Amino acid sequence: MKATAIAHPNFALIKYWGKADRTLNIPATGSISVTVDRLLTKTEVSFDNALDQDIVTLDGNQLDPKEAARVVAFMDLVRKMSGCRWFARVNSINNFPADAGLASSASAFAALALAASNAAGLKMKPGELSALARRGSGSAARSIFGGYVEMHAGTSPNGLDAIANPIAEASSWPLVILIAVTSSDVKRINSTDGMNMTAKTSPFFNSWITSTQKDLENMRAGIGARDLARVGELMEHSCLKMHGLMLSARPGLIYWNDGTLQVIETIRRLRRQRQNAYFTVDAGPQVKVICEPDHLLRVKEALSRLSGVSRIIETMPGPAARLLED
Ligand code: PMV
Repeated sequence: MKATAIAHPNFALIKYWGKADRTLNIPATGSISVTVDRLLTKTEVSFDNALDQDIVTLDGNQLDPKEAARVVAFMDLVRKMSGCRWFARVNSINNFPADAGLASSASAFAALALAASNAAGLKMKPGELSALARRGSGSAARSIFGGYVEMHAGTSPNGLDAIANPIAEASSWPLVILIAVTSSDVKRINSTDGMNMTAKTSPFFNSWITSTQKDLENMRAGIGARDLARVGELMEHSCLKMHGLMLSARPGLIYWNDGTLQVIETIRRLRRQRQNAYFTVDAGPQVKVICEPDHLLRVKEALSRLSGVSRIIETMPGPAARLLED
């Protein structure tokens, strides 16, 4: 009744922003991402019939009931699927600094889905695990897989086909991914609330949904051809379109800070100097930069000189979520 799993975060090349079904957490569009190496969440789940509630610990600190609510709701789902009635100890650690301001829900719920399902005796296939992880966080469905991954919005009302699948192995295109940390503040509006408010209030929401279909096709083709210029241009387009959409919500959602803009300007300047680097930004102010290994030193040096950048984390495409043997 015990299992431990490791999962890595992923960054979206084509973003999703909006839900088709809030209860089942089905995304309104597909998305394409890359799972990264080095950064990871390790989660141990042990069911224990002596417990009268789930005990959730994150980086050594026990969460209070309000903070633990999302994890407890996820554990209830696993209990329902497996028939297990026991509560569990859930211990989770991230190896990346908590103050790096990086979204950890993707690696967190991918590791939790794998560890909790195994501890409860469920033997799930990768696609089923992806659907389970999605219930915790939409982006977690992608972190079940390594390398370049596509998430499908699916058509089934029960969400069984709203799952991810790998489209290219990490080792088949070893790009460099830099994370420029521009703030360690906790984000003010979480992604679920931000998405729901955008869907409700933005006049551009329908165009976002329809135009994303073409972006997904083009990104699939760009990754298939290992064409960084094409992938990078599309990645920036999807990112800027998502932030334009966020700005058009009422009230407008602004996740950027000065440092975010400094990094974007620097990447555009480097490109004018023939350095092939491209940026993307999620629901926070950090910027992720993708480049070829040959350009790493120049790009890293330019970013490290910016007053708005406090730290640079270097990573690359990484592996799928996996179980650890006890
Ligand atoms: O599923 P969530 O709550 O992790 O939301 C992810 C939202 C973005 O990171 C902004 C986009 C994406 O596709 O990852």
